Amino acid sequence: MPAQTHQHRFDALTADAMRAGGSWKWSRPGLDAHGRGLIGAFVAEMDFPPSDAVADAVRDSVVQNRFGYLSDAWVADLADAFSSFWSDRFGWSVDPERVRPVPDVMTAFVATIEHFTPPGTPVLLPTPAYMPFLTVPGRLGRELVPVPMAPASGPSSRWALDLDALDAAFTATGSKLLVLTNPHNPTGRVLTEAELAAVTALVDRHGARVFADEIHAPLTFDGRVHRPYAATSEVAAAHTVTATSASKAWNLPGLKCGQVVLSDAASAERWAEVGYLPEHGTATPGVLASTAAYTHGREWLDEVLDYLDGNRALLRDADLPGLGVTVPEGTYLAWLDGTGLDLDEPPAAYLAREAGVVLTDGAACGSPGGMRFNLAMARPVLSEALDRLGAALRA
Ligand SMILES: Cc1ncc(COP(=O)(O)O)c(C=O)c1O
Repeated sequence: MPAQTHQHRFDALTADAMRAGGSWKWSRPGLDAHGRGLIGAFVAEMDFPPSDAVADAVRDSVVQNRFGYLSDAWVADLADAFSSFWSDRFGWSVDPERVRPVPDVMTAFVATIEHFTPPGTPVLLPTPAYMPFLTVPGRLGRELVPVPMAPASGPSSRWALDLDALDAAFTATGSKLLVLTNPHNPTGRVLTEAELAAVTALVDRHGARVFADEIHAPLTFDGRVHRPYAATSEVAAAHTVTATSASKAWNLPGLKCGQVVLSDAASAERWAEVGYLPEHGTATPGVLASTAAYTHGREWLDEVLDYLDGNRALLRDADLPGLGVTVPEGTYLAWLDGTGLDLDEPPAAYLAREAGVVLTDGAACGSPGGMRFNLAMARPVLSEALDRLGAALRA
């Protein structure tokens, strides 16, 4: 996809307007950054306004008084819409009966640990990782075993799962669960069929399961297409709980609706026994909005992908001395490697103060010295953020 050069309506979203909007992403009290307004580039949501499909669905929820508990019909509509989108986009024909609603992916993660792994067993997590994956297992009394990924070592190389290290960690800890986030937050990797096949062989050898977090599935670039892990083979389908949501691609995380896919009969039976509580917090307007997004939001999604691609190009061309920059293959999250900087504090803290750009500290992702940079903002704002970062790095 070529980067856009013409003026786009998202370009008009100013930093001042975003700050006035009151979102968490744009409000970090206590940070000053030399009196300049802060630019929020940490939490994974987009600054863009919602698609008409989503906005209309939420409005309809109000007008038609759809604030009651979820009906079976609305759940079925969501499952049909999901199934049709995932089939068209990713070639995975999921039986809608196997698609269940949850409030969010993290609820599905908790349910997977609690109901799909032997009590007390540790959880393997490739790092860097989405931050709560590092802390949630401990709150459930489970050991979290971080397994560092192999880092990108140059502009053309890319992050990769360290299969030998995962193998050794399975053996050493007796873990029965691997967290597989693809497309990957925060390295932006979109795993290949061959990489997924290698994971399947490994997990199968250890009699373990995969929690397949595919929340960023529609957000891929340069012709890459997301490959659902459970769709790669019967072996993978039988050891996987897949969790996803329309919340990243259509920007509706506050509407609280995710989807779990049970890709084998035994898992579906288990979910039928234990799924009531994890499903219970799913928001009715979120289900209606997600159904609308999957059904009528495809054009908007393509427009957003095109815009994000332009933002990726801006990052690729940016002058950020001393930083290793990984332009994402998928997701709108870029990984910045600041381990080569000569600082006596975490680079994210230095750049928040000196550049006024708030990034996620890699330490929270399990990789100190790195930073996660959310590119999903108006391009003029991104341009300013990159200029500020460059200036702070040159100072
Ligand atoms: C990879 C990944 N997994 C899970 C989540 C959390 O999703 P949810 O809000 O549905 O729990 C996020 C949110 O940024 C994410 O990036």
